[in-house]
Amino acid sequence: MAQQKLRKQETLAMRKRLIGQSCRLFYSDDPVKIVRARGQYLFDENNQRYLDCISNVHHVGHCHPKITEAAAAQMDLLNTNSRFLHDNIVLYADRLAASLPEKLCVFYFVNSGSEANDLALRLAQQFTQHQDVIVVDHAYHGHLMSLIDISPYKFRKLAGQKEWVHVAPLPDTYRGIYRETHPNPGQAYADTVKDLIEDVHKKGRKICAFFAESLPSVGGQIILPQGYSAKVAEYVHSAGGVYVADEVQTGFGRVGSHFWAFQLQGEDFCPDIVTLGKPMGNGHPLACVATTKEIADAFTANGVEYFNTFGGNPVSCAIGLAVLDVIKEEDLRGNAMTVGAHLKDLLTKLQTRHQMIGDVRGVGLFVGLELVKDREQRTPATECAALVVKRLKEEDRIFVSTDGPWESVLKFKPPLCFSMEDAELVAQCIDRILTDVEAKRLELEKEDI
Ligand SMILES: Cc1ncc(COP(=O)(O)O)c(C=O)c1O
Repeated sequence: MAQQKLRKQETLAMRKRLIGQSCRLFYSDDPVKIVRARGQYLFDENNQRYLDCISNVHHVGHCHPKITEAAAAQMDLLNTNSRFLHDNIVLYADRLAASLPEKLCVFYFVNSGSEANDLALRLAQQFTQHQDVIVVDHAYHGHLMSLIDISPYKFRKLAGQKEWVHVAPLPDTYRGIYRETHPNPGQAYADTVKDLIEDVHKKGRKICAFFAESLPSVGGQIILPQGYSAKVAEYVHSAGGVYVADEVQTGFGRVGSHFWAFQLQGEDFCPDIVTLGKPMGNGHPLACVATTKEIADAFTANGVEYFNTFGGNPVSCAIGLAVLDVIKEEDLRGNAMTVGAHLKDLLTKLQTRHQMIGDVRGVGLFVGLELVKDREQRTPATECAALVVKRLKEEDRIFVSTDGPWESVLKFKPPLCFSMEDAELVAQCIDRILTDVEAKRLELEKEDI
């Protein structure tokens, strides 16, 4: 039976009536109805093409034919749960193991980043027999209750901070407590975690885990200063806790130079637990927890089976394997590195022309451009960022979103097939819009005089 086709206004009306209104749409004033996609492009119901700088999930490109083919072939053959013996889950785990440091050699497959982080929390608690968790300010780790509790980005707007959760400063060298002029921000920010651990001990409590995104994203596309993670891991380990690296957004080669973003922190750093998600299935719900044998053994020792109905099913794992193949065959890491560097370079050049660009940061195709009202005070230019997002969509058909505590950071996390031409188009359009915004601002200032 052909699927019923709705006009955009009908879809919108039904969505308002039937879908919980806390599930928000992009561009809520004038939502876009997307009906198909390919590579880095999305198409609306009028066949208008949009350049997608938002969809980090569609990692190797929207609707990649190799992924569709792998999914359809396995779907046609078998899809059971992982209680039956099957090749795909072990072959996939083996490929993931080859991409990770040797000690991260045991895998649990789940369906979302939230499930992965919730399980990471359970593993850490079971292994350490401690409860308290340290998180980085503005972090987001998922939508389950356990994760809202460890996500300052959410709990600050809700019930507040639990007594077992402790918040370390965001290691943001642009607007944080230690900035780019500090001689060793990595050590200085790590020492804030050490201080927190001491406070926790003074209260008679014990550290279970330190959770951090390898590149904090909702915090504003932050690049952790060098040396931070290794030092934090040292402090957390000596307190009997474990280091959990949330790679849900940043894994699978987005940073280009490495397969995992935590590897940017150097060879001497290895997390105890890594959580994977979003790009893993290129849009199919597939996520995972990777950990050490010791932690997995402690979890097994509780005697309770871990069963996840859909996690690691043959179709999901066939898709996961195909994603790994495409990353390699199409050298998407290489592309993330060259195109990401080009984008960063173009945006950095714009910074010399536009006073409103306070900072450009990023690695691979994980790039942020922070807008400020004045460079001296670094006052966030929230309204201007929202205006740029709106105009990019309306005038140039480019989708970009904002992040950061003040929504003043334009973030770029496109599919890894993003091209040099795409990067150039984005930079040109931002240049034009900022030129216009700054000219209007000057006019207003003159009127005020
Ligand atoms: C860093 C990070 N961790 C975890 C999650 C939760 O993933 P999911 O939405 O797949 O449950 C997200 C989602 O945005 C995320 O950005």
